[in-house]
Amino acid sequence: MLPSFARLVAAACAFAATATAVVPVVVSGKDFVNTNTKDRFQIIGIDYQPGGSSGFDGKSDPLSNGTSCLRDAAIMQHLGVNTIRVYNLSPGLNHDECASIFNGAGIYMILDVNSPLTGGYLDRTDPASTYNPTYYNQVFGVIEAFKNYPNTLGFFAGNEVINEQSVRSVPSYIRAVQRDMKDYIAKNVNRSIPVGYSAADVRDILMDTVQYMSCELENSTSSRSDFFGLNSYSWCGDSSYTISGYDVLTEDFSNASLPVFFSEYGCNKVTPRIFTEVAALYGQDMTQAFSGGLVYEYSEEPNNYGLVQLNSNGSVTLLVDYYNLQKQYNKLDLSRLQSSNTSQTSVKPVECGSSLITSSDFLNAFNLPTRPTKVQDMIDNGLSNANTGKLVSVQSTSIPETVYDYYGNVVTGIKLQVLDTDKANTPGQSTPLSTGSPTSPGASSSTASATASPSASGASSSEKSAASEVSMSWFLGALSGAFVMVGVWL
Ligand SMILES: *[C@@H]1O[C@H](CO)[C@@H](O)[C@H](O)[C@H]1NC(C)=O
Ligand SMILES: *[C@@H]1O[C@H](CO)[C@@H](O)[C@H](O)[C@H]1NC(C)=O
Ligand SMILES: *[C@@H]1O[C@H](CO)[C@@H](O)[C@H](O)[C@H]1NC(C)=O
Ligand SMILES: *[C@@H]1O[C@H](CO)[C@@H](O)[C@H](O)[C@H]1NC(C)=O
Ligand SMILES: *[C@@H]1O[C@H](CO)[C@@H](O)[C@H](O)[C@H]1NC(C)=O
Ligand SMILES: *[C@@H]1O[C@H](CO)[C@@H](O)[C@H](O)[C@H]1NC(C)=O
Repeated sequence: MLPSFARLVAAACAFAATATAVVPVVVSGKDFVNTNTKDRFQIIGIDYQPGGSSGFDGKSDPLSNGTSCLRDAAIMQHLGVNTIRVYNLSPGLNHDECASIFNGAGIYMILDVNSPLTGGYLDRTDPASTYNPTYYNQVFGVIEAFKNYPNTLGFFAGNEVINEQSVRSVPSYIRAVQRDMKDYIAKNVNRSIPVGYSAADVRDILMDTVQYMSCELENSTSSRSDFFGLNSYSWCGDSSYTISGYDVLTEDFSNASLPVFFSEYGCNKVTPRIFTEVAALYGQDMTQAFSGGLVYEYSEEPNNYGLVQLNSNGSVTLLVDYYNLQKQYNKLDLSRLQSSNTSQTSVKPVECGSSLITSSDFLNAFNLPTRPTKVQDMIDNGLSNANTGKLVSVQSTSIPETVYDYYGNVVTGIKLQVLDTDKANTPGQSTPLSTGSPTSPGASSSTASATASPSASGASSSEKSAASEVSMSWFLGALSGAFVMVGVWL
């Protein structure tokens, strides 16, 4: 019988996953590259911090609960993402189950090493006061926790630390943190996990920031960023390459010597979001300059950027933005995105020097803070009592929690697909999540406009077109639902 055959295949895949894993990604020139296939790796990602940074208490974090990770990884897999970014982690918790689930799903992780708790971050108004061994218990603790997972793509040394409040010396502290992290990794990790910085899109100082972080410093080569993340919200609604200023960003970053990507994107000034920027970001004009990006963000929080609603009873409701984003991902030309280009991978950084910096307000000196002796000891000997993670087998692939589609119907048959060895998740592998229930697309469409455009003010043509987009994707989902039932999910 077909279903039991399918179960056997699923079981075989699950078994494979216990022994194998995704292939680590490395930085080569200005590209991320798969170490096995040498294909270029483009980040198709989302930011993942349920509860937000204000909800972080150190007792749990987004990667400490295997049940919620299994549920969320399955939902993300259907969406088509290959990477998540997690902002706040607690090094003492056990992340084995979650990291292994995302690994099995073919989803990489970019992890911020900072936490909002006391001692867990660099104070931008007085960095010297927090550049100490207490802080490095957090920083090196996160490295120890995640260093052994092959799907750890990279670590962010800082997120938007340079802003209006930051004092002039802050850039040198970020380079010092990168130096200390990379020296720790060189000494205590068996592969060179990349380290980078995530910047706010403050155009006056953006180029100074990337120049400062990416230039080559002869007497401190390890302090250089391996990659550069940009949090960019300049494309709102049905904008364009030029109106959004993406053309300027592309020009600005075309000569960068390291991989650059959007570490956050997805303006919500016009809702529902229709994500037309996806076609631009992964299109011909931008792919040489950018290595993709991460949509902000997976879960609905008070600031209203969610793709899904996490309900208090553990169930999940897929929001209209989820379908709209999936639709855009499904149009991507993956073979073009993965093609490598030696003129990209052979790019070399320029030497650091004060002439690289154009704004008089931005630090133009490269004498970095000296490393405290105790931090040197941590690097030399490894963090004591480190809680070092390791891959475990993925025990279960079915999701106990209920998943509701946008119309409130229960989504049936959703489960984690454990991918073959060396495979990253890609868009277009799964049919849109929907139920086979016989609601007519026309009826659903009116529900869509009612719930999907909560702000009556400024109801624009893009909002209307988005409403029809979701009903179209529902319709396709309902059509393919028939095949889903027979072929894949049972
Ligand atoms: C590094 O260590 C991990 C975890 O022990 C192991 O799975 C992996 O194969 C090692 N990688 C290399 C390149 O030795
Ligand atoms: C990039 O480099 C090219 C060749 O060196 C140069 O002509 C161009 O002006 C540079 N662009 C930017 C934005 O710096
Ligand atoms: C290869 O990369 C270079 C530098 O980014 C770019 O100018 C060129 O157009 C790319 N070539 C192809 C075939 O994409
Ligand atoms: C869980 O909560 C959601 C949202 O409040 C509700 O719609 C749903 O009926 C609940 N589901 C279960 C299984 O209790
Ligand atoms: C883990 O997540 C599930 C699903 O959200 C939830 O029901 C459960 O209470 C969580 N477990 C812990 C220990 O927080
Ligand atoms: C390293 O080089 C920079 C830039 O040339 C210089 O400002 C700094 O003082 C040097 N640091 C040390 C420790 O020599």
